[in-house]
Amino acid sequence: MADEFDLVVIGGGPGGYNCAIRAAQLGLKAACIDKRGTFGGTCLNVGCIPSKALLHASELFEEASHGAALGVKAEVSLDLKAMMGFKEKTVDELTKGIEFLFKKNKITGLKGTGKLLSATEVLFTSNEGEEKKLTAKNIVIATGSDVIGLPGIEIDEKRVVSSTGALALDKVPGHVLVIGGGVIGLELGSVWRRLGAEVTVVEFLDHIGGEMDGEVSKTFQRALKKQGMKFKLSSKVTGVDASGKSLKVAVEPAAGGDAETVEADVVLMCIGRKPFTEGLGLEDVGVALDARGRIDVDGHYRTNVAGVYAIGDVIKGPMLAHKAEDESMAVAEVIAGKAGHVNYDVIPSVVYTSPEVAFVGMTEEQVKAAGIEYKVGKFPFMANAKAKVGGMTDGFAKIIADAKTDRVLGVHIVGPDAGNLIGEAAVAMEFGAAAEDIALTCHAHPTLSEAIRQAALGVDDRIMQM
Ligand code: FAD
Ligand code: NAI
Repeated sequence: MADEFDLVVIGGGPGGYNCAIRAAQLGLKAACIDKRGTFGGTCLNVGCIPSKALLHASELFEEASHGAALGVKAEVSLDLKAMMGFKEKTVDELTKGIEFLFKKNKITGLKGTGKLLSATEVLFTSNEGEEKKLTAKNIVIATGSDVIGLPGIEIDEKRVVSSTGALALDKVPGHVLVIGGGVIGLELGSVWRRLGAEVTVVEFLDHIGGEMDGEVSKTFQRALKKQGMKFKLSSKVTGVDASGKSLKVAVEPAAGGDAETVEADVVLMCIGRKPFTEGLGLEDVGVALDARGRIDVDGHYRTNVAGVYAIGDVIKGPMLAHKAEDESMAVAEVIAGKAGHVNYDVIPSVVYTSPEVAFVGMTEEQVKAAGIEYKVGKFPFMANAKAKVGGMTDGFAKIIADAKTDRVLGVHIVGPDAGNLIGEAAVAMEFGAAAEDIALTCHAHPTLSEAIRQAALGVDDRIMQM
């Protein structure tokens, strides 16, 4: 009896643990299995949280080192061990918080591996090797994602590292070569550059930041370059020779051509992540994957096997913690017979560098490609009083609105605290706001959020503070 559940969730990341909590709130008897020693998944253990702890700490280090212009003079030195200790303490406290939430909601947290035996049975193997069969009326797979490698380049997590190794280096490398100018490369590249490393980013495309708005990407790259980050765009890494004291990295033009050799102390592999489906027994139970190896689900997160659902990084959509969390609530509601729903048109993205980049909705390129008539309002932080008093004037806020209806289609910010500012835009878009609605909303002075208001006024060509 004790091993019978209404819901067994495999994977204890933001998708899995939140799903178990919402299900328990809805009165379901839930268990959540994770093979790590701690719950929280990639996000809490080796992703969002440790990276943001190091981004915050390294930004303070950089700010303290350059405070003289504001009249703050200090002798600053780095204690990397203490900085890593701060990161580990933060992770530890947050993962313990999940254990507390599990207890509070009467969720059975199981540390070990989960494998599907059928649509209603999960084999749980504890981290100590004990096996137990669990029966479940419903199963949610939330096993997340794993780093994508390049053929012939072995990740040893010491000199050739994924994000996991890059979050735990024991000294500041002389030169970090980053493969992939996406979110991880730019965030963790920023951390190590601030702490004193030379950082070179090799990116296959002719721009950084993947699918972010083109104008934002250009301004963002310019700001990072000014800070000392180097870029080799339209380039690819074809090999890493790790036999000597320093790594010899072969870098070629993306279109092919002569390779050059770049020496580095650490190579960071971050060309994207792939859904993690290994060892789940999916083939035995007949759970179908899509062409890109993701678990195939319908609009209600149902796989092709009745009673088996999937959410988070292991299914389609952006690989983001808050997207996994939204899906966790929706799938729990669906299982409990309610109407769970996620609005995929309004999922914000944030890059936690300095300046930050944050966006929600369509980019200008996407609006153009869709043939929508649009208007743009744009306001530079250079003209925003709060940005000016903080000496954080790089970047702008940009609002794209439908030319006919004025409805906000996308908001793109590169600038200070963009990640917090984007919340206002997401709420506005969720409510179907027009640019005029934002423009007529009183924003406190002096705040960075005034830049959003001015950009909204700009949609109708009536910016006041410039
Ligand atoms: P995960 O968090 O990956 O959790 C899945 C869990 O399932 C893992 O703990 C895994 O060990 C476990 N598991 C897998 N198979 C089994 C099995 N068979 N049995 C038991 N357990 C199993 N997103 C953001 O939104 N903001 C950020 O700032 C951000 N920063 C990031 C920084 C880094 C360096 C990385 C790598 C990612 C970052 N992400 C960020 C992405 C975010 O971490 C993921 O989108 C999110 O964790 C996905 O949640 P999930 O629940 O789907 O999977
Ligand atoms: P990414 O998809 O963000 O960026 C990968 C980059 O590598 C792309 O620009 C791509 O063009 C480039 N690339 C691909 N193949 C290449 C090659 N052979 N050589 C050179 N460049 C190549 O992936 P990343 O940075 O690994 O992050 C993985 C995921 O983790 C992201 O998609 C994101 O969803 C999540 N994440 C989110 C964060 C956040 O929300 N702040 C922070 C970190 C990760």
